[in-house]
Amino acid sequence: MRQAYFLTGTDLEVGKSLIATGLLYTASQSWDLKVLGLKPVVVGSGNDMEELIAASNVEAPRRYLNPYHFTEPVAPNIAAKGAGQVIDLNHIQYCFDEVRTRADLVIVEGIGGFCAPLNDTQTGADLAELLGLPVIVVVGLRQGCLSHTLLTVEAIEARNLPIAGWVANEMERDMMCVSETVGTLKDYLDIPLLGFIRYQDHPHGQALVKQLAMPD
Ligand SMILES: Nc1ncnc2c1ncn2[C@@H]1O[C@H](COP(=O)(O)OP(=O)(O)O)[C@@H](O)[C@H]1O
Ligand SMILES: [Mg+2]
Repeated sequence: MRQAYFLTGTDLEVGKSLIATGLLYTASQSWDLKVLGLKPVVVGSGNDMEELIAASNVEAPRRYLNPYHFTEPVAPNIAAKGAGQVIDLNHIQYCFDEVRTRADLVIVEGIGGFCAPLNDTQTGADLAELLGLPVIVVVGLRQGCLSHTLLTVEAIEARNLPIAGWVANEMERDMMCVSETVGTLKDYLDIPLLGFIRYQDHPHGQALVKQLAMPD
């Protein structure tokens, strides 16, 4: 098996990094796979890349894992412009191609929501399409997530990308009607549910190993 996925979410701060690392720990510990996480564009001071490196069990140069890092916590296209740079999707593809064969499972964490602009003309959706990977959707369960989820799925399907699965991730402690919300999404989505992660007091991917299924 050698598989790579593009992991997106219904927004920024919905648990993409938590679920990405959870899937990497699951694959390495339960399935004994070689795993690698990439985050092509980081904005702000978040430690997404450190978390992904910690959850990976093969090494690769950071310039390939994370070719773009901007410290301003704003949209990637705006952060890049502020730094006098342009995010080049072909360069991201080159970096991905350099490392993809090092692991059995590669997860590419997207940037913000699926259609976040990366430069003047291209969004995260264009990156997913260019890489041509099946997509995993992390749904941050909070009020308003139903429409965000359906819009995200529509946008992925409009690019003719397969959706390998979705993960329900509770972002508000004791969210009202959380099971009804997940039930509604199950009714609407014809996509495998890889896990329903409840609110975590100490969120860490390692704690999700028994709670996530691997996509096909
Ligand atoms: N199920 C959860 N329970 C509690 N906190 C969570 C949960 N999922 C994510 N978080 C927290 O929410 C914040 C955003 O999660 P993160 O994985 O960084 O999102 P993203 O990668 O989509 O920006 C982090 O502080 C993370 O620890
Ligand atoms: Mg993240």
